[in-house]
Amino acid sequence: MEGTSVRDKVVLAYSGGLDTSVAIKWLQDKYDLDVIAVSIDVGQPQGEDDVIARAKLIGAIEAYSIDAKETFAKDYVFPSIKANANYQDTYPLSTAIARPLMVKLLVDVAKQHGAKFIAHGCTAKGNDQVRFDVSIVSLDPELGIIAPMREWVMTREEEIEYARVNDIPITVKKQSPYSVDENMWGRSCECGILEDPNVEPPEDVYSWTVSPLDAPDEPEYVEVEFVKGEPVAVNGKSMAPVELIEELNDMAGRNGVGRIDHIEDRLVGIKSREVYECPAAVLLLEAHKGLEGLVLMKDLLAFKKGMEQKYSELSYDGLWFSPLMDSIRAFVDESQRYVDGKVRVKLYKGKATVVGRSSDNSLYHEGLVTYAEGDRFEHNSAVGFIYCWGLPLKTAASAYKGKGQ
Ligand code: ARG
Repeated sequence: MEGTSVRDKVVLAYSGGLDTSVAIKWLQDKYDLDVIAVSIDVGQPQGEDDVIARAKLIGAIEAYSIDAKETFAKDYVFPSIKANANYQDTYPLSTAIARPLMVKLLVDVAKQHGAKFIAHGCTAKGNDQVRFDVSIVSLDPELGIIAPMREWVMTREEEIEYARVNDIPITVKKQSPYSVDENMWGRSCECGILEDPNVEPPEDVYSWTVSPLDAPDEPEYVEVEFVKGEPVAVNGKSMAPVELIEELNDMAGRNGVGRIDHIEDRLVGIKSREVYECPAAVLLLEAHKGLEGLVLMKDLLAFKKGMEQKYSELSYDGLWFSPLMDSIRAFVDESQRYVDGKVRVKLYKGKATVVGRSSDNSLYHEGLVTYAEGDRFEHNSAVGFIYCWGLPLKTAASAYKGKGQ
């Protein structure tokens, strides 16, 4: 009967897959909790069946599906573009930056329902458990955390058996040889043959990109317009964030752009090998850096690089909601004040190359750089400048001469 339940509640991050389906029942049995299942859409391909109905069938007292695509694009992906976020200069953090958003939504649901716990399906060896747990305590230090897959000792076969015995409806698909995580910012793939870092990833790893070998023989050009560092239009057509990212995933993907083979350093101390497909991310990060090179001053570009690296590490390491991250974000936002303009990118057989850039805020002045007619650089200033620039070295050279050998 409504309202008479005395059980505490747990909000479960529910994907509809085997692990989290089994978890619904397991949380009720093992912890005697009422389960609220929440499935969050950040632009991953959606399964055909109704995961919400299935969660209720398994025994969840409530089940929600939250469409978080727009928030993900606007508040997580776009800030990361402005920060040129790329972990170890290689991985655009697609999985990593979706986790804090998921946690934020789970915490909101927990508040609405007075739930005391959040549960997630991460294992004990990855980064994602850290991102979930640390984001949860950052947003609500009172909440308890349960990670069934860190606790139970079931193999996949035992999970299937557990589901059978407990009448849990699951669709056991043919198991993919890889472990895959997807959202609109990229696709992550690990395990199977990829665990040998010396083996070239086979073609069946990829699903968003064509092989550069099969990509069109003609290059495809795309123009991306940015306002304050955020992409707003593609080939002259204004687009909302989600639409823009999806469009560029298609465009870059069909030209074989976005394949990444990364030996990566996990937060938990393990080196792992992950293969990513991040077509839109690779394209947009190139384009954005291309525009910044035109409009930002040298010292800001150089200083920002350090901030970008820190931003990437904090995102990777599960510290999205930290005060340091807030401060860096404020710096990055301010740095984008003049990052307006258009960038032309050539997509050709696996590569995205910036081939043109223009901006009303361009710091590139032909009159200053040209060796031809119209030169406006003051040549006679060079000698005085070099005198001052070299003066400390000249002073040191004569003071130290013949000493310190
Ligand atoms: N290594 C990446 C990260 O920690 C992706 C992990 C996603 N999981 C997967 N099954 N591929 O952000």
